[in-house]
Amino acid sequence: MRSQNHKITGSLDHKNIISVEQFDKKDIKNIFQTADEMRKLVEKSGGDESLKGKIMTALFYEPSSRTFGSFITAMQRLGGGIIPIHGVGSTSVKKGESLEDTIRTFGCYSEIIVLRHPNEDSVHKAAKVSYVPIINAGNGGEEHPTQTLLDLYTIYRKFNRLNNLKGVLAGDPLHSRTIKSLLKALALYSNNKVRILSPTNLRISRKLYTDLTNKGLKISEIDGEKDISNDADFWYWNRIQKERLAEGSKSGSKFVVTTKLLEKYGNDKMIIMNPLPRIDEIAPEVDSDPRSVYLKNQMQNGLYIRMALLKLILT
Ligand code: NCD
Repeated sequence: MRSQNHKITGSLDHKNIISVEQFDKKDIKNIFQTADEMRKLVEKSGGDESLKGKIMTALFYEPSSRTFGSFITAMQRLGGGIIPIHGVGSTSVKKGESLEDTIRTFGCYSEIIVLRHPNEDSVHKAAKVSYVPIINAGNGGEEHPTQTLLDLYTIYRKFNRLNNLKGVLAGDPLHSRTIKSLLKALALYSNNKVRILSPTNLRISRKLYTDLTNKGLKISEIDGEKDISNDADFWYWNRIQKERLAEGSKSGSKFVVTTKLLEKYGNDKMIIMNPLPRIDEIAPEVDSDPRSVYLKNQMQNGLYIRMALLKLILT
């Protein structure tokens, strides 16, 4: 049995990526260095053959555009092959096969499995039985570690630091795996301060709140735009996770980034982020704002980070 949630401590070699909590600051810096190399490689020649002969299974039980697309192209740009499973409706899962047996199966045909699944325990179950490394591409509302690495990389490339940051994270922190993973990662660095903007019923769990504040992350939970303050380095908006709301429950008020909101509470040096998909939480008028990175840089960084991860795990 492969060990499941090991600390990275210097080497990603054939390790699972399950949670951002596996990484320390040095590991993250190493990944950024390789991501820089990947960016230069893609710009220069589109890719290379460093993963020739290796196959990646992308096993997605939930919808995805960016995570699926960027992992697929990351593998192909490094000369590797793919088993792309986008929706399990035409696999034996449809006949009732368990997640565990499905994971064992694709471990016989590929060197790595990228898994997205609606259940939080899925990736833990998968890692327990897998013959090959598993990358968590989103397990229910719990975590999305590779998204966080690309989010951190985006912030780092703008500000050249991951400490002493002020951020506003908004939307549905209770169910948003991208917000939760990013908060955990921000807690690794010193003196980060976040305001989490959401209706009160969508706040993060008290357990996560306590864990994060114990680690030194300064959190203030706000439920109105007037408390945003205008000194943030980044705004990170994520949609209400409708598919994860308890049946019959309401999401409460919604916070929408508009030009007006930016005029009131923004500043010149900040960036505006969103893991996407954007539904209606950022008005289209904001797309052309030079501070908006969600429709280009942030997504491109996802490719470089995922190329870096595949290379560091498989070679
Ligand atoms: C996110 C996800 O799947 O959690 N998307 C992504 O991977 N970029 C965000 C979302 O669905 O809201």
